Amino acid sequence: MTSTALSPLTTAPQLEPANFLNLLIVDDERSIREACREVAQALGFNAYAADSAEHAYRMLESQAFDAVLLDLHLPGAGGLDALRRIKERRPDAIVIVVTGYGTVQSAVQAMKNGAYDYVTKPFSVDELKLLLERVASHLKLKSENRMLREKVKSKQGFGGIVGRAPEMEKLYRIIAKAANSAHPVLILGESGTGKEMVARSIHYSGPFRDKPFIPVDCGSLVPTLIESELFGYVKGAFTGANQSKDGLMAMAEGGTIFLDEVGELPVDLQAKMLRAIQEKEIRPVGSTRRVPINVRILAATNRDLEQAVMQGTFRRDLYFRLNVLSLRIPPLRERRQDIPLLIAHFMERMVRTSGQEKMLSDDALKALLAYDWPGNVRELENCLERAYAFTSGPLIHSTDLPHEIAKVPVPESSNGNGHGNGNGNGHARIIPIAELEKQTILNAIAELNGDKLQAARLLGIGKTTLYRKLKDYSLQTE
Ligand SMILES: Nc1ncnc2c1ncn2[C@@H]1O[C@H](COP(=O)(O)OP(=O)(O)OP(=O)(O)O)[C@@H](O)[C@H]1O
Ligand SMILES: [Mg+2]
Repeated sequence: MTSTALSPLTTAPQLEPANFLNLLIVDDERSIREACREVAQALGFNAYAADSAEHAYRMLESQAFDAVLLDLHLPGAGGLDALRRIKERRPDAIVIVVTGYGTVQSAVQAMKNGAYDYVTKPFSVDELKLLLERVASHLKLKSENRMLREKVKSKQGFGGIVGRAPEMEKLYRIIAKAANSAHPVLILGESGTGKEMVARSIHYSGPFRDKPFIPVDCGSLVPTLIESELFGYVKGAFTGANQSKDGLMAMAEGGTIFLDEVGELPVDLQAKMLRAIQEKEIRPVGSTRRVPINVRILAATNRDLEQAVMQGTFRRDLYFRLNVLSLRIPPLRERRQDIPLLIAHFMERMVRTSGQEKMLSDDALKALLAYDWPGNVRELENCLERAYAFTSGPLIHSTDLPHEIAKVPVPESSNGNGHGNGNGNGHARIIPIAELEKQTILNAIAELNGDKLQAARLLGIGKTTLYRKLKDYSLQTE
């Protein structure tokens, strides 16, 4: 194996700041339209032009624009009137008005009527560039925030990811950013933490969500077949290759390939994968021709890749290439406050899919909240599913749970002393179950605007249990 020294960032796909944003330029002067279009396109905008207000209205009917550059002095229509009509059609669009020298007054009026900014004619290319760059970053921020808001609204993260721990909130922010870029992302996390889920949500909240998402488990592919699986083969490439076949990389064209357990990729394939990413082309097995590909790479591993690089089992250059952006999903034991949310989420799902209403008993809930979950969310999900399926009555007891979970010693419940982690035992990270439970119940009730019945249902406990707990803890919820 030859190792090529390269800097990971210089040749990585570069995305312009304004990628995927649509800009409409409205001006009756052709030279200005063309010049603006050139600048906008160089910044990565999809730039369109209209030579009159009427033309602009028609275009606004048929296309969603993120921003409009509007000359206030169009023949016929009053500029302010045009601004009003544009805002009516697309209230979210950012409108920058262009005014002539000495008519700043109308620009001020336009800003009052909802324009984002103005520029006076004549303006330089640099001036316009700066302005459009600002518009692009404003729009990006807006879209990231919108995604975050949607997440909060649904109490879940992107793509159904449940979790409210601060580390998860941070993760959602990174996902939102990653979704809007084309760089590779390396997703790190222990087994069962949700790496594939995160990969999917990066793909499905990005601009290529309509294109394929192709997961490849590098650990389970037969080593001798990986190359043809990934890159495809041509007829006659090997015995049994009766016709050519596309590989998984080609199937992901325009979308995302998710290289799961990328640390398991054999070394010779690592070289080929590096080449595919760098050159953006692949060579199907048995072919002499290279085929261009346009695929976004996401990779995941639960192995320490850096260590593998040191040991020489993983190529350093491929590691750098995949690791342009990396994101670590914390294990469940480091975000214990998400355990009750996940329990509620899975219980609710099982009530829905099984049509049978079952609930967790007090002791079962306590055991679940106290357990360390080495297998993370996957283990929790499996455990609840099994208990749900095998418990015959309406109540799941701790004895219905796997032995190692049921036997966790549950600390004596305590009313706490008013401080979040004040447990009086000298271990600040150990939070009494009672405290967790109390917070969980309060959060649920607050989130459901005081609907205790619904809270009990989503928490997977009976309503009498809920009322009793509220009384035990002297909780005020009104
Ligand atoms: N935050 C979460 N919210 C809801 N469900 C989750 C969450 N994280 C994981 N899951 C569920 O847990 C299971 C495991 O998730 P996933 O397959 O994404 O994990 P992984 O890290 O790829 O695991 P492995 O290393 O075992 O492949 C899936 O069924 C997934 O739906
Ligand atoms: Mg996985």
